[in-house]
Amino acid sequence: MNAGPIPDRLPADLYGRRDRDRAVRILDAVATARLTWTTLVNRRPVTPVVDDRRLALVVTDRRIEAHDEDVVTLRLQAPDRRELPRWRPGAHLDLELPSGRLRQYSLCGDPADAIGYRIAVRRIPEGGGGSVEVHDTVSVGTPLIVRGPRNAFPFAVPGYGSPSTRVHFVAGGIGITPMLPMARLAHRLGLDWSMVYTGRSRDALPFLDEIESFGDRAVVRTDDRSGLPDAAALLPGVTRGCAVYCCGPSAMTATVAAAVRDRGIELHSERFSPPPIIDGRPFEIEIASTGEIFEVPAYRTALDAILDRRPDRPYSCRQGFCRTCKVRVLAGVPDHRETTLTDAERDAGDLLVCVSRSASERLVLDL
Ligand code: FES
Repeated sequence: MNAGPIPDRLPADLYGRRDRDRAVRILDAVATARLTWTTLVNRRPVTPVVDDRRLALVVTDRRIEAHDEDVVTLRLQAPDRRELPRWRPGAHLDLELPSGRLRQYSLCGDPADAIGYRIAVRRIPEGGGGSVEVHDTVSVGTPLIVRGPRNAFPFAVPGYGSPSTRVHFVAGGIGITPMLPMARLAHRLGLDWSMVYTGRSRDALPFLDEIESFGDRAVVRTDDRSGLPDAAALLPGVTRGCAVYCCGPSAMTATVAAAVRDRGIELHSERFSPPPIIDGRPFEIEIASTGEIFEVPAYRTALDAILDRRPDRPYSCRQGFCRTCKVRVLAGVPDHRETTLTDAERDAGDLLVCVSRSASERLVLDL
Protein backbone atom coordinates (compact mmCIF):
# COMPACT_ATOMS: atom_id res chain seq x y z
CA MET A 1 0.00 0.00 0.00
CA ASN A 2 1.24 3.43 -0.90
CA ALA A 3 1.84 5.47 2.27
CA GLY A 4 1.06 8.71 0.43
CA PRO A 5 2.94 11.98 0.63
CA ILE A 6 4.86 12.56 3.83
CA PRO A 7 2.72 15.52 5.10
CA ASP A 8 -0.36 13.20 5.09
CA ARG A 9 1.36 10.94 7.63
CA LEU A 10 1.99 13.74 10.09
CA PRO A 11 -0.48 13.89 12.95
CA ALA A 12 -2.94 16.77 12.69
CA ASP A 13 -2.35 19.76 14.91
CA LEU A 14 -4.84 21.24 17.38
CA TYR A 15 -6.67 22.89 14.51
CA GLY A 16 -6.83 19.73 12.32
CA ARG A 17 -4.09 20.92 9.98
CA ARG A 18 -1.76 18.19 8.66
CA ASP A 19 0.65 20.47 6.90
CA ARG A 20 3.21 22.43 8.90
CA ASP A 21 3.12 26.14 8.60
CA ARG A 22 5.99 27.93 6.90
CA ALA A 23 7.68 29.18 10.07
CA VAL A 24 7.87 25.63 11.48
CA ARG A 25 9.34 24.29 8.23
CA ILE A 26 12.02 27.00 8.27
CA LEU A 27 12.85 26.31 11.91
CA ASP A 28 12.99 22.58 11.15
CA ALA A 29 15.41 23.16 8.27
CA VAL A 30 17.63 25.41 10.43
CA ALA A 31 17.68 22.81 13.27
CA THR A 32 18.55 19.99 10.86
CA ALA A 33 21.39 21.98 9.29
CA ARG A 34 22.75 22.90 12.72
CA LEU A 35 22.60 19.26 13.89
CA THR A 36 24.49 18.14 10.78
CA TRP A 37 27.15 20.81 11.30
CA THR A 38 27.55 19.99 15.03
CA THR A 39 27.88 16.29 14.25
CA LEU A 40 30.62 16.97 11.72
CA VAL A 41 32.52 19.36 13.97
CA ASN A 42 32.31 17.20 17.09
CA ARG A 43 32.97 13.91 15.38
CA ARG A 44 35.51 11.91 17.42
CA PRO A 45 38.72 12.03 15.44
CA VAL A 46 40.07 8.84 14.05
CA THR A 47 43.42 7.90 15.55
CA PRO A 48 46.11 7.83 12.89
CA VAL A 49 46.94 4.16 12.65
CA VAL A 50 49.60 2.53 10.58
CA ASP A 51 47.97 -0.81 11.14
CA ASP A 52 45.66 -2.11 13.83
CA ARG A 53 48.23 -1.82 16.64
CA ARG A 54 50.64 0.90 15.51
CA LEU A 55 50.41 4.68 15.66
CA ALA A 56 52.38 7.17 13.60
CA LEU A 57 53.42 9.94 16.00
CA VAL A 58 55.95 12.73 16.07
CA VAL A 59 58.19 14.11 18.85
CA THR A 60 56.86 17.55 19.80
CA ASP A 61 58.99 18.20 22.88
CA ARG A 62 62.33 16.92 24.21
CA ARG A 63 63.73 17.87 27.62
CA ILE A 64 66.69 16.97 29.79
CA GLU A 65 65.06 15.61 32.92
CA ALA A 66 67.97 14.79 35.26
CA HIS A 67 70.87 17.03 36.20
CA ASP A 68 73.38 14.44 35.00
CA GLU A 69 71.69 14.84 31.56
CA ASP A 70 71.26 11.09 31.22
CA VAL A 71 67.45 11.19 31.25
CA VAL A 72 65.38 12.87 28.56
CA THR A 73 61.62 13.10 28.28
CA LEU A 74 59.87 13.01 24.95
CA ARG A 75 56.37 14.22 24.22
CA LEU A 76 54.71 12.34 21.37
CA GLN A 77 51.66 13.52 19.47
CA ALA A 78 49.85 12.73 16.25
CA PRO A 79 50.95 15.18 13.54
CA ASP A 80 47.42 16.62 13.42
CA ARG A 81 47.02 16.59 17.24
CA ARG A 82 44.26 14.03 17.12
CA GLU A 83 43.19 12.14 20.21
CA LEU A 84 45.32 9.15 21.12
CA PRO A 85 44.21 5.84 22.66
CA ARG A 86 43.59 6.28 26.38
CA TRP A 87 45.77 4.63 29.02
CA ARG A 88 45.94 4.04 32.77
CA PRO A 89 48.84 4.36 35.22
CA GLY A 90 51.39 1.57 34.74
CA ALA A 91 50.96 1.43 30.94
CA HIS A 92 53.87 1.48 28.51
CA LEU A 93 54.52 2.08 24.82
CA ASP A 94 56.58 -0.02 22.44
CA LEU A 95 58.71 2.38 20.43
CA GLU A 96 59.94 1.43 16.96
CA LEU A 97 63.20 3.35 16.71
CA PRO A 98 64.54 4.61 13.38
CA SER A 99 67.10 1.76 13.39
CA GLY A 100 64.31 -0.81 13.66
CA ARG A 101 65.02 -1.54 17.33
CA LEU A 102 61.93 -2.02 19.48
CA ARG A 103 62.09 -0.63 23.02
CA GLN A 104 59.52 -0.22 25.76
CA TYR A 105 59.00 2.85 27.88
CA SER A 106 56.50 3.53 30.64
CA LEU A 107 54.07 6.37 30.14
CA CYS A 108 54.89 9.01 32.74
CA GLY A 109 52.60 11.87 31.73
CA ASP A 110 49.00 12.55 32.63
CA PRO A 111 46.37 10.02 31.46
CA ALA A 112 43.95 12.97 31.15
CA ASP A 113 46.14 14.42 28.39
CA ALA A 114 44.15 13.13 25.43
CA ILE A 115 46.51 14.26 22.66
CA GLY A 116 50.00 13.55 23.99
CA TYR A 117 52.10 10.81 25.53
CA ARG A 118 55.18 11.46 27.68
CA ILE A 119 57.98 8.95 28.11
CA ALA A 120 61.39 9.21 29.80
CA VAL A 121 64.55 7.47 28.62
CA ARG A 122 67.74 6.99 30.63
CA ARG A 123 70.91 6.66 28.60
CA ILE A 124 72.30 3.17 29.29
CA PRO A 125 75.40 2.68 27.13
CA GLU A 126 75.61 -1.03 27.95
CA GLY A 127 71.91 -1.59 27.31
CA GLY A 128 71.99 -2.73 23.69
CA GLY A 129 71.88 0.67 21.99
CA GLY A 130 68.18 1.57 22.20
CA SER A 131 68.48 4.30 24.82
CA VAL A 132 71.65 5.68 23.22
CA GLU A 133 69.83 5.89 19.89
CA VAL A 134 66.98 7.82 21.52
CA HIS A 135 69.40 10.25 23.16
CA ASP A 136 71.57 10.77 20.10
CA THR A 137 69.14 10.70 17.19
CA VAL A 138 65.59 11.45 18.38
CA SER A 139 64.71 15.12 18.58
CA VAL A 140 61.73 17.42 18.10
CA GLY A 141 60.17 16.57 14.74
CA THR A 142 61.39 12.97 14.61
CA PRO A 143 58.56 10.71 13.43
CA LEU A 144 58.18 7.50 15.44
CA ILE A 145 55.94 4.48 15.21
CA VAL A 146 54.59 3.31 18.55
CA ARG A 147 52.62 0.27 19.56
CA GLY A 148 50.25 0.29 22.49
CA PRO A 149 49.64 1.58 25.05
CA ARG A 150 49.62 -1.72 26.92
CA ASN A 151 49.56 -2.23 30.64
CA ALA A 152 51.62 -5.01 32.23
CA PHE A 153 51.82 -3.19 35.59
CA PRO A 154 48.28 -2.04 36.43
CA PHE A 155 47.50 0.04 39.49
CA ALA A 156 44.70 -1.50 41.58
CA VAL A 157 43.24 1.33 43.61
CA PRO A 158 42.83 0.38 47.30
CA GLY A 159 39.15 0.05 48.08
CA TYR A 160 38.29 -0.62 44.42
CA GLY A 161 40.55 -3.12 42.71
CA SER A 162 42.52 -4.02 45.84
CA PRO A 163 41.60 -5.16 49.37
CA SER A 164 44.45 -3.07 50.81
CA THR A 165 43.72 0.18 52.60
CA ARG A 166 46.88 2.07 51.79
CA VAL A 167 49.62 2.02 49.18
CA HIS A 168 53.39 2.45 49.27
CA PHE A 169 55.53 3.09 46.18
CA VAL A 170 59.20 2.12 45.94
CA ALA A 171 61.00 3.58 42.93
CA GLY A 172 64.64 3.23 41.95
CA GLY A 173 66.01 5.76 39.44
CA ILE A 174 64.21 5.61 36.10
CA GLY A 175 61.80 3.15 37.77
CA ILE A 176 59.95 6.28 38.87
CA THR A 177 58.29 6.51 35.44
CA PRO A 178 55.32 4.16 35.97
CA MET A 179 55.03 5.36 39.59
CA LEU A 180 54.46 9.02 38.73
CA PRO A 181 50.98 8.57 37.23
CA MET A 182 50.12 6.12 40.03
CA ALA A 183 51.17 8.58 42.73
CA ARG A 184 49.31 11.41 41.03
CA LEU A 185 46.16 9.29 40.91
CA ALA A 186 46.55 8.23 44.55
CA HIS A 187 47.02 11.88 45.51
CA ARG A 188 44.02 13.03 43.50
CA LEU A 189 41.82 10.33 45.03
CA GLY A 190 42.92 11.26 48.54
CA LEU A 191 44.33 7.80 49.24
CA ASP A 192 46.61 7.02 52.15
CA TRP A 193 49.91 6.64 50.28
CA SER A 194 53.66 7.06 50.65
CA MET A 195 56.77 6.71 48.50
CA VAL A 196 60.48 6.05 48.79
CA TYR A 197 62.44 7.21 45.75
CA THR A 198 66.06 6.08 45.59
CA GLY A 199 69.06 6.52 43.31
CA ARG A 200 72.79 7.09 43.23
CA SER A 201 72.60 10.83 43.77
CA ARG A 202 70.13 13.67 43.35
CA ASP A 203 71.78 14.56 40.05
CA ALA A 204 70.84 11.15 38.66
CA LEU A 205 67.17 11.31 39.71
CA PRO A 206 64.61 12.51 37.16
CA PHE A 207 61.39 14.29 38.08
CA LEU A 208 62.63 15.50 41.47
CA ASP A 209 60.49 18.64 41.25
CA GLU A 210 57.36 16.64 40.59
CA ILE A 211 58.11 14.16 43.37
CA GLU A 212 58.94 16.84 45.92
CA SER A 213 55.69 18.63 45.13
CA PHE A 214 53.99 15.77 47.00
CA GLY A 215 55.58 17.00 50.23
CA ASP A 216 56.07 14.54 53.10
CA ARG A 217 54.39 11.70 51.27
CA ALA A 218 57.50 11.10 49.16
CA VAL A 219 60.94 10.51 50.66
CA VAL A 220 63.95 10.94 48.36
CA ARG A 221 66.90 8.82 49.48
CA THR A 222 70.24 8.72 47.68
CA ASP A 223 73.10 6.23 47.97
CA ASP A 224 75.81 8.92 48.09
CA ARG A 225 74.38 10.33 51.33
CA SER A 226 72.68 7.36 53.00
CA GLY A 227 74.32 4.25 51.50
CA LEU A 228 72.49 1.44 49.75
CA PRO A 229 68.97 1.13 51.17
CA ASP A 230 67.94 -2.02 53.02
CA ALA A 231 64.39 -3.34 53.34
CA ALA A 232 63.64 -1.17 56.37
CA ALA A 233 64.65 1.96 54.45
CA LEU A 234 62.60 0.97 51.40
CA LEU A 235 59.47 -0.05 53.31
CA PRO A 236 59.06 2.32 56.28
CA GLY A 237 55.79 1.69 58.09
CA VAL A 238 54.64 -0.95 55.63
CA THR A 239 52.47 -3.51 57.38
CA ARG A 240 49.71 -5.93 56.46
CA GLY A 241 46.94 -4.13 54.58
CA CYS A 242 49.37 -1.96 52.60
CA ALA A 243 49.85 -2.62 48.88
CA VAL A 244 53.44 -2.16 47.69
CA TYR A 245 54.30 -1.07 44.13
CA CYS A 246 57.96 -1.42 43.26
CA CYS A 247 59.93 -0.60 40.11
CA GLY A 248 63.68 -0.40 39.80
CA PRO A 249 66.85 -2.46 39.58
CA SER A 250 66.61 -6.22 40.14
CA ALA A 251 68.51 -6.05 43.45
CA MET A 252 66.03 -3.53 44.82
CA THR A 253 62.93 -5.43 43.69
CA ALA A 254 64.44 -8.65 45.12
CA THR A 255 65.04 -6.93 48.49
CA VAL A 256 61.45 -5.69 48.59
CA ALA A 257 60.02 -9.04 47.50
CA ALA A 258 61.97 -10.91 50.19
CA ALA A 259 60.87 -8.44 52.86
CA VAL A 260 57.13 -8.67 52.17
CA ARG A 261 57.00 -12.41 51.47
CA ASP A 262 54.70 -14.33 53.84
CA ARG A 263 53.55 -11.13 55.55
CA GLY A 264 50.19 -10.80 53.79
CA ILE A 265 51.38 -7.70 51.95
CA GLU A 266 50.21 -7.20 48.38
CA LEU A 267 53.24 -6.72 46.10
CA HIS A 268 53.22 -5.44 42.50
CA SER A 269 56.60 -5.05 40.91
CA GLU A 270 58.22 -4.30 37.60
CA ARG A 271 61.94 -4.47 37.05
CA PHE A 272 63.86 -2.90 34.20
CA SER A 273 66.59 -5.46 33.97
CA PRO A 274 66.37 -9.16 33.11
CA PRO A 275 65.31 -11.48 35.90
CA PRO A 276 68.04 -13.61 37.44
CA ILE A 277 68.53 -17.09 35.97
CA ILE A 278 67.41 -19.61 38.56
CA ASP A 279 68.50 -23.25 38.32
CA GLY A 280 70.01 -22.67 34.91
CA ARG A 281 71.51 -25.72 33.19
CA PRO A 282 73.75 -25.52 30.13
CA PHE A 283 72.34 -26.65 26.80
CA GLU A 284 73.08 -26.38 23.11
CA ILE A 285 71.37 -24.46 20.35
CA GLU A 286 71.47 -25.60 16.75
CA ILE A 287 70.44 -23.12 14.07
CA ALA A 288 68.47 -25.22 11.60
CA SER A 289 69.26 -23.21 8.48
CA THR A 290 73.06 -23.36 8.91
CA GLY A 291 73.68 -26.33 11.19
CA GLU A 292 75.68 -24.02 13.49
CA ILE A 293 75.82 -25.34 17.08
CA PHE A 294 76.79 -23.38 20.18
CA GLU A 295 76.42 -23.67 23.93
CA VAL A 296 74.25 -21.65 26.30
CA PRO A 297 76.05 -21.69 29.67
CA ALA A 298 74.05 -22.08 32.88
CA TYR A 299 74.57 -18.43 33.78
CA ARG A 300 73.53 -16.91 30.40
CA THR A 301 70.24 -16.59 28.55
CA ALA A 302 69.61 -18.22 25.21
CA LEU A 303 69.00 -14.74 23.82
CA ASP A 304 72.47 -13.56 24.83
CA ALA A 305 74.07 -16.63 23.27
CA ILE A 306 72.10 -16.06 20.06
CA LEU A 307 72.99 -12.34 19.99
CA ASP A 308 76.70 -13.28 20.09
CA ARG A 309 76.21 -14.86 16.67
CA ARG A 310 73.22 -12.92 15.33
CA PRO A 311 73.54 -9.38 16.75
CA ASP A 312 70.61 -8.21 14.65
CA ARG A 313 68.09 -10.54 16.24
CA PRO A 314 65.19 -8.49 17.64
CA TYR A 315 64.47 -8.28 21.36
CA SER A 316 63.05 -5.71 23.72
CA CYS A 317 61.92 -6.35 27.31
CA ARG A 318 64.27 -9.28 28.10
CA GLN A 319 61.67 -10.30 30.67
CA GLY A 320 59.37 -12.59 28.72
CA PHE A 321 56.37 -10.40 28.06
CA CYS A 322 56.84 -8.42 24.83
CA ARG A 323 57.25 -11.48 22.52
CA THR A 324 59.82 -9.68 20.37
CA CYS A 325 62.41 -12.45 20.80
CA LYS A 326 60.04 -15.27 19.83
CA VAL A 327 61.59 -18.12 17.83
CA ARG A 328 60.30 -21.47 16.58
CA VAL A 329 61.64 -24.70 18.08
CA LEU A 330 61.99 -27.46 15.49
CA ALA A 331 63.41 -30.16 17.79
CA GLY A 332 64.15 -30.56 21.50
CA VAL A 333 62.14 -29.98 24.68
CA PRO A 334 61.68 -26.34 25.70
CA ASP A 335 61.67 -25.21 29.33
CA HIS A 336 59.17 -22.35 29.17
CA ARG A 337 59.84 -19.76 31.86
CA GLU A 338 57.29 -17.10 30.99
CA THR A 339 53.55 -16.75 31.35
CA THR A 340 52.98 -14.93 28.07
CA LEU A 341 52.60 -17.60 25.40
CA THR A 342 49.34 -19.49 25.02
CA ASP A 343 49.20 -23.28 25.10
CA ALA A 344 48.52 -23.22 21.36
CA GLU A 345 51.65 -21.14 20.74
CA ARG A 346 53.75 -23.45 22.87
CA ASP A 347 52.28 -26.49 21.10
CA ALA A 348 53.24 -24.84 17.79
CA GLY A 349 56.85 -24.62 19.02
CA ASP A 350 57.12 -20.94 19.97
CA LEU A 351 59.78 -20.01 22.52
CA LEU A 352 60.75 -16.69 24.17
CA VAL A 353 64.50 -17.04 24.29
CA CYS A 354 65.09 -14.10 26.65
CA VAL A 355 63.92 -16.12 29.64
CA SER A 356 63.06 -19.65 28.52
CA ARG A 357 65.62 -22.43 28.28
CA SER A 358 65.81 -26.08 27.31
CA ALA A 359 64.87 -29.22 29.20
CA SER A 360 66.78 -31.31 26.66
CA GLU A 361 70.45 -31.21 25.78
CA ARG A 362 69.83 -29.38 22.52
CA LEU A 363 67.20 -27.18 20.91
CA VAL A 364 67.03 -26.86 17.13
CA LEU A 365 65.74 -23.40 16.29
CA ASP A 366 64.33 -21.83 13.18
CA LEU A 367 65.78 -18.32 13.29
S1 FES B 1 62.58 -9.78 24.67
FE1 FES B 1 60.55 -9.45 25.33
S2 FES B 1 59.74 -11.46 25.46
FE2 FES B 1 61.81 -11.74 25.01
